[in-house]
Amino acid sequence: MQRILVAHDGSKASDKALRKALEIALSMNSSLTVLAVVPELYLTELSDADRQRITEVLKRETEDNMERIRKSLSGKPIEIKFLVREGDPAEKILETAHKMKVDLIVTGSHGKHGTKKFLIGSVSAKVVEYSKCPVLVVK
Ligand SMILES: Nc1ncnc2c1ncn2[C@@H]1O[C@H](COP(=O)(O)OP(=O)(O)O)[C@@H](O)[C@H]1O
Ligand SMILES: [Mg+2]
Repeated sequence: MQRILVAHDGSKASDKALRKALEIALSMNSSLTVLAVVPELYLTELSDADRQRITEVLKRETEDNMERIRKSLSGKPIEIKFLVREGDPAEKILETAHKMKVDLIVTGSHGKHGTKKFLIGSVSAKVVEYSKCPVLVVK
């Protein structure tokens, strides 16, 4: 196991996923990539100006969150990368995993805005369904 990708959306569940991914990466001396996707807004009733403003807020939130993670991981004795992308979260996770040829994708079972009604959230479900490599959904 050389490369591990962990998807982080700022939620407690993805913090848990990050801890597990780090534990595996450290024990196997793998590189770790932390990916956060700024979700694209599809709400058609939004004006372009509102859409832009909300996207800016989401971007800043995501960058702040990455900075917090970067600090918490500083000094770890493995290679760690931090990526912020924009678009459909599941698609960006799958695309990044494919491009980087990762051996494992780690996600949380739930995220920030979802409901606990479903066994796992829609992003992790889509990643499990379409990924070509193993996926670990951390509960
Ligand atoms: N925007 C995102 N960027 C990176 N990872 C994400 C993003 N959204 C969700 N994930 C990953 O998917 C996991 C499950 O989230 P999700 O499927 O969105 O559940 P929910 O429906 O509860 O929000 C998260 O813990 C995280 O690992
Ligand atoms: Mg979500």
